[in-house]
Amino acid sequence: MVRNAQDAPEVGELTPPDRTLMGPGPSDVHPRVLRAMSTPLVGHLDPSFIELMNEVQELLRYTFRTDNQWTIPVSGTGSAAMEAAIGNVVEPGDTMLVPTNGYFGGRMESMAERAGGEVVRVDAPWGEPLDPADVEAAFDEHQPDVFGFVHAETSTGVKQPDVPELTGIAHEHDAYVIADCVTSLGGVELRVDEWGVDVAYAGPQKCLSCPPGASPLTLNDRAMDKVLGRENPVRSWYLDLSLLEGYWGEERAYHHTAPITNVYALREALRLVAEEGIESRWERHLDVARALKAGVEAMGLEMNAPDEYWLPSLNAVRVPDGVSDGEVIQVLLDQYDLEIAGGLGDLSGDIFRIGCMGYSARPKNVSYLLSALGDVLDEKGAAVDVEVGLSATSDRLG
Ligand SMILES: Cc1ncc(COP(=O)(O)O)c(C=O)c1O
Repeated sequence: MVRNAQDAPEVGELTPPDRTLMGPGPSDVHPRVLRAMSTPLVGHLDPSFIELMNEVQELLRYTFRTDNQWTIPVSGTGSAAMEAAIGNVVEPGDTMLVPTNGYFGGRMESMAERAGGEVVRVDAPWGEPLDPADVEAAFDEHQPDVFGFVHAETSTGVKQPDVPELTGIAHEHDAYVIADCVTSLGGVELRVDEWGVDVAYAGPQKCLSCPPGASPLTLNDRAMDKVLGRENPVRSWYLDLSLLEGYWGEERAYHHTAPITNVYALREALRLVAEEGIESRWERHLDVARALKAGVEAMGLEMNAPDEYWLPSLNAVRVPDGVSDGEVIQVLLDQYDLEIAGGLGDLSGDIFRIGCMGYSARPKNVSYLLSALGDVLDEKGAAVDVEVGLSATSDRLG
């Protein structure tokens, strides 16, 4: 049948379901951020927008805990900021050391290879952090130019401890450190300057509770000197920081049309961080996630990560025996409008991944999650005591 080009497709009005987002991201967006997104557009070179760019950069520096001049939102999702970091810092012939303990270390590896780098690995099992002794041994063996690690591994619910120790090892070997902070920025303690991180990137849709589209990136002068001193141009025109400098640096000249609405959204999300105070915000994430953890443990479930490297923004909970993770996740979505996720890679089928990020990191969400998850697991025949779990959570929430 030949399609008639004049037939208009019949598409209904947009009515997305009203979900509670407690998965690995995106998280629930703060109403003030949604309101900011419905304000009128201005041009990406409008004097008012230029002023707003300065504000966003200043708020990003506050949130990253850095004085880096080179702090910008990259147009695109977290992967765009990630590729901007790796694609600019890694030059053809450079060696990059990447971790194998989760999904996003694998993505670092692909990006480093596409940038023309050679990849060497430091191993740890999925669900565990890197051991500084292994990082040291990898440096002694391979002398990498760049070291990447994931501060908050969304695929496993692991927080990488000992960051200053890791950056110290890298710097003793004159290497550059790139930290993936997608699931930590704005929710989990992160101190870019104090901890000696040369380059850090993040996503707005996790602990900042902002829709994806403009993703934080920061580089110190040392890393930026390497980027500006490259012999070969960066392979991506769009993400070449030496060109983006024209737009985000002093000049403010056209490079590409910035996603204005996303920049508005990010500004409002960062304003919320500044109002709350970054350290209070880390505390809130900890308090609310501790209540969640107390509830799941009291109910009879087990966390995958021990306390030393438990990631409050992403809680990996062991799937109890005899239960299918996929079925539980589906019932939660269909009957409770509640999103959580299952494990990936080596942890596929073994864990639930429960986010506790930004605007989703609220007592109300945690209580709802506990009762919904408990009820569904109980229905599926798991050995859980929902009442005990709920009272442990409410005790912690006070
Ligand atoms: C740790 C980590 N790194 C990178 C990314 C990539 O971000 P995006 O999906 O926004 O491109 C994600 C996304 O979930 C992530 O969790």
